[in-house]
Amino acid sequence: MIGIRNRVEVLHGVNLDMLGKRDPEQYGTLTLVELEVRIRHWARQLGLETTFFQTNSEREYVERLHHAPEVADGLLVNPGAWTHYSWAIRDALELAALPAIEVHLSDVQSREEWRRRSVIADLVAGRVSGKGADGYHDALELLGRELGVDPLPAA
Ligand code: DQA
Repeated sequence: MIGIRNRVEVLHGVNLDMLGKRDPEQYGTLTLVELEVRIRHWARQLGLETTFFQTNSEREYVERLHHAPEVADGLLVNPGAWTHYSWAIRDALELAALPAIEVHLSDVQSREEWRRRSVIADLVAGRVSGKGADGYHDALELLGRELGVDPLPAA
């Protein structure tokens, strides 16, 4: 493929529309819209273009993954609780066959036992968790590196 591969689709899963109302100890105080504003800003600094999608429907998440290769070069995924059990989302992510980074606001390894398992862990190029909103910055950096995109020079 010719040209710069810098299109990143950010896929938020179930219950992430409720950020701002969820436990601030785990998820911080930003709403999803506020989080997306930050992600877009960080992405631009890193030379990446972002699109966003959130749904509480597993079917819609899967279908969005089916179309992802048409609109994106890489994926930043936080499937929420689906991370821990959705084999359908795992299969769709595998089908998408795009470089992907898995991100979680909370530290899934140090919470309940059932959150320790990620059914997508072996499909992703990197995982970030427990860093709150800043984790999305780290995830974008990892994805930018995977895509071979250079950050913009500091203004
Ligand atoms: C989450 C962690 C999941 O265990 C949880 O179900 C979520 C959010 C996170 O970002 O920390 O909904 O993915």
